[in-house]
Amino acid sequence: MVSDVGSVVQGFYNKTPFPDYDLSRFNCTDDLVANAWSFAEILDRSIDEKASVVDVGTGTGQLSAFLSLRRKNVLGIDFSDSSLNKARALKQKLSLILGVCKRLTFLM
Ligand SMILES: C[S@@+](CC[C@H](N)C(=O)[O-])C[C@H]1O[C@@H](n2cnc3c(N)ncnc32)[C@H](O)[C@@H]1O
Repeated sequence: MVSDVGSVVQGFYNKTPFPDYDLSRFNCTDDLVANAWSFAEILDRSIDEKASVVDVGTGTGQLSAFLSLRRKNVLGIDFSDSSLNKARALKQKLSLILGVCKRLTFLM
């Protein structure tokens, strides 16, 4: 269930997926590394490679995708379908081992 405030936030991110990017910028996994923000690099250095990562509010999945390069269990969750569509397109284009989902149904 999404609250009234949640509906407004969800509507906003359905109209404006974040972080927006042109999929043509990512043609290989090296492009994820080349485009990584410093925050992503800090997280990548700080999180053990054997750790499982759940990125809640993953948006378009750029951070999850980057973290998945060195980890086997990365899951990005978001309630914006248009953001998830972009995350899934990125995952598919780069053949990433990355979970992308709207909700954790096994917890419901
Ligand atoms: C500012 S974007 C951040 C994207 C990404 N984490 C990043 O740093 O690049 C926030 C994201 O959180 C998602 N979000 C906000 N509240 C949420 C909720 N209750 N459940 C799922 N996703 C949520 C929005 O849809 C949006 O994609």
